[in-house]
Amino acid sequence: MAVGLIDALVILAHPLAGMTAAYFLYKQWSTIKSIRRKSNTSTMSAKQKDKILNKHQTMGRKAPSIVAFVITLAIVAEIYRGIVMDVPFSELLSLHGWLGALLLIATISMSKTGRSMSSSKSEDYHKTPQRNIHSKIGDAMMWLLASIVFLGFLRLLTVLG
Ligand code: HEM
Ligand code: HEM
Repeated sequence: MAVGLIDALVILAHPLAGMTAAYFLYKQWSTIKSIRRKSNTSTMSAKQKDKILNKHQTMGRKAPSIVAFVITLAIVAEIYRGIVMDVPFSELLSLHGWLGALLLIATISMSKTGRSMSSSKSEDYHKTPQRNIHSKIGDAMMWLLASIVFLGFLRLLTVLG
């Protein structure tokens, strides 16, 4: 099917926002990981560490809304393709989309465990179960993210082709 300029703009809004969100989530993960690496070699002061952690918490609180926004753009494109471009419903869902929904759930649970860690009165939040869950989901999320971006490019080729 031929894709016009408006069609392309509606379809491309989601992949562009998706790539930006993927970069944001990767940064969120890699910056906080660098604290541990650098504090092991003691090239980072406590003040620098605090600054990174504060930024991590502020940005992390925004993460669920960012992923939800990216999914909203995808749904808008789906509705547009379904109604205006007459694409059958069966072609509107994909593994990429299901993994995207899973990413939203993972991001919400990161935000929840992160909040409960940061509101914990104990200085020893490093040993709390939330910290363990936060760390494990955080690592799994990066694999999930890589698969979503890869499948997203394949999906884009199918949709525009
Ligand atoms: C945070 C990252 C992302 C999330 C959470 C996400 C999520 C979704 C969801 C839920 C859908 C709708 C269901 C479906 O089509 O199966 C979708 C569609 C789609 N996604 Fe993503 N996505 C992300 C990143 C990307 C990237 C990086 C690309 C491409 C480079 C991409 C390309 C597409 C395309 C082409 C569609 C079909 C949209 C249409 O029908 O016009 N996505 N995505
Ligand atoms: C999508 C969002 C988030 C991601 C991907 C993420 C990822 C991570 C990762 C990878 C770590 C390091 C764990 C380890 O050492 O293995 C971490 C630590 C931490 N995160 Fe998050 N996080 C997110 C959101 C949040 C939020 C919203 C908060 C709080 C409001 C938060 C608070 C913390 C705290 C307090 C630590 C411990 C830092 C330390 O080592 O002292 N995170 N996070």
